[in-house]
Amino acid sequence: MKIYQLSTLLFALILLLATCSENGQSNEQLTNKHEYLEKGKTIASATFATLSGKLQEAMQEGGVQNAVSYCNLAANPLVDSLAKIYNADIRRTALLTRNQANNPTARELRQFEIYRSTHKAGKTMNPVVHSIDPNTVAFYAPIQLMPLCEKCHGKVGESISSEDYEHIKKLYPQDEAINFATGDLRGMWSISFQK
Ligand code: HEC
Repeated sequence: MKIYQLSTLLFALILLLATCSENGQSNEQLTNKHEYLEKGKTIASATFATLSGKLQEAMQEGGVQNAVSYCNLAANPLVDSLAKIYNADIRRTALLTRNQANNPTARELRQFEIYRSTHKAGKTMNPVVHSIDPNTVAFYAPIQLMPLCEKCHGKVGESISSEDYEHIKKLYPQDEAINFATGDLRGMWSISFQK
């Protein structure tokens, strides 16, 4: 009798805990979605401002070859400090990459494909947030090509000079990130942080 009562109590307790955590999680996702989106947008635009500022400065000072290293997030100490401030993992990925280290994970690829078909249909690609585990949120946003980017991601012999491309190819022999035009879907932000 006692054992029966105890196991009923345990069962009820487990059920209660399971329901609590389930509700807690889904409520949190709903109520904080806007906040997570805003946080992701803030990190992406701060990172972009940091990168493109440096990129333009270096291009003005010494042309494309001088600026090539400034499109590398991982090698940028300012991006690193942004990641520390926001306690976030900041990545950019693409289907066609220059650096293979930026190739998409299966999860990123799923989102990128959604952006690709949205863009193809001529619709607006909006930033999104997904809960990827109980403690982590992933923020994704599209990256479209701007005129400035064509100097390194456009057509060789047209927007990219052959000499500049030779330099890029030496550093990135497996480069696939060319032939893009302004407005094209170039890549995607993939930023994850704690809930
Ligand atoms: C001076 C040359 C240069 C310019 C200008 C440039 N990039 Fe890049 N881009 C690179 C290089 C080099 C890499 C590889 C960085 C690395 O090692 O992670 C890269 C990588 C990327 C990646 C990551 C995916 C990949 O291909 O590895 C994205 C996304 C990207 N660039 C978008 C842009 C956009 C958008 C612009 C314009 C705002 C731009 N780039 C301007 C040289 C350039």
